[in-house]
Amino acid sequence: MQRLEGKVILVAGGGGIGNELARRYAREGACVVLGDIDLDGVRAVADDIKRAGGRATATRLDGADEGSIAAAVALACKDYGGLDGLHANFAALTTISSDSDVLDMSLDAFDTTMRVNTRGFFLCTRHALPAIFARGGGAIIYTSSGAAHAGEPTRVAYAMSKAAGQALMRHVASKFGPQGVRANSIAPGVIRHERWTAWSPEVVAELEARATSNTHIKSRLGRPDDIASLSALLMSDEGSYITGQVISVDGGATMRS
Ligand SMILES: NC(=O)c1ccc[n+]([C@@H]2O[C@H](COP(=O)([O-])OP(=O)(O)OC[C@H]3O[C@@H](n4cnc5c(N)ncnc54)[C@H](O)[C@@H]3O)[C@@H](O)[C@H]2O)c1
Repeated sequence: MQRLEGKVILVAGGGGIGNELARRYAREGACVVLGDIDLDGVRAVADDIKRAGGRATATRLDGADEGSIAAAVALACKDYGGLDGLHANFAALTTISSDSDVLDMSLDAFDTTMRVNTRGFFLCTRHALPAIFARGGGAIIYTSSGAAHAGEPTRVAYAMSKAAGQALMRHVASKFGPQGVRANSIAPGVIRHERWTAWSPEVVAELEARATSNTHIKSRLGRPDDIASLSALLMSDEGSYITGQVISVDGGATMRS
């Protein structure tokens, strides 16, 4: 399918899910700018996309650094003539092991999480919107998490940052909908991806057991392409009547009205 032909999309944050987002957007015809603090990682993905006949540029983007976000938007406009879509996907996950509870966690870890996940998504939005307006509208997707709407005895900062991303999404959808901008959040469940190979078999087994006990699709865990296929739909004209939503892709782990 070439649902994204002629569109330019900035994917802010590669990694297990973000790399697949970039690949999917490119396969569906979009020109992709893929940014991450791990420049070598996103360069390898952009090279793969180009080898497969797609169009992609890699750049160093740090969610904590406004200048690098502005530069990534400018790069999309310079290389591909504008911007139609933003997918804010990165998350500061190195702090997650110290993200315990409100009494215990260090303020440094809290501030890092909020600076990257919350302020970073805010800044990506602020810099992308003018370029999207210049195209007459477009779409923004925020990668969220079930942590935003579940009881979370630990990971208080992560959960708060993901809830804040959903509030930002509703702000953008309601304020800028009349200018042709749609905004949605995707809340993945447990998504198994290439980075899991770096973890010990015990950690992986525990995560798998926890995930399958919560989900209603028992045959498998989530995969990056589960997130990418919904994202491609939301970025495309097929999603043109969907805005302001949090959509869970989690095998039914959460169900709500
Ligand atoms: N994998 C899951 O099970 C799962 C579940 C729910 C939500 N999510 C969300 O999905 C998104 C992607 O997670 P993932 O599982 O692919 O993790 P990942 O660790 O594979 O990818 C995260 C990426 O963010 C990048 N990053 C970290 N700090 C950054 C910064 N300051 N600026 C720019 N990039 C930065 C990392 O380099 C990495 O490439 C995250 O927002 C995460 O919260 C993942």
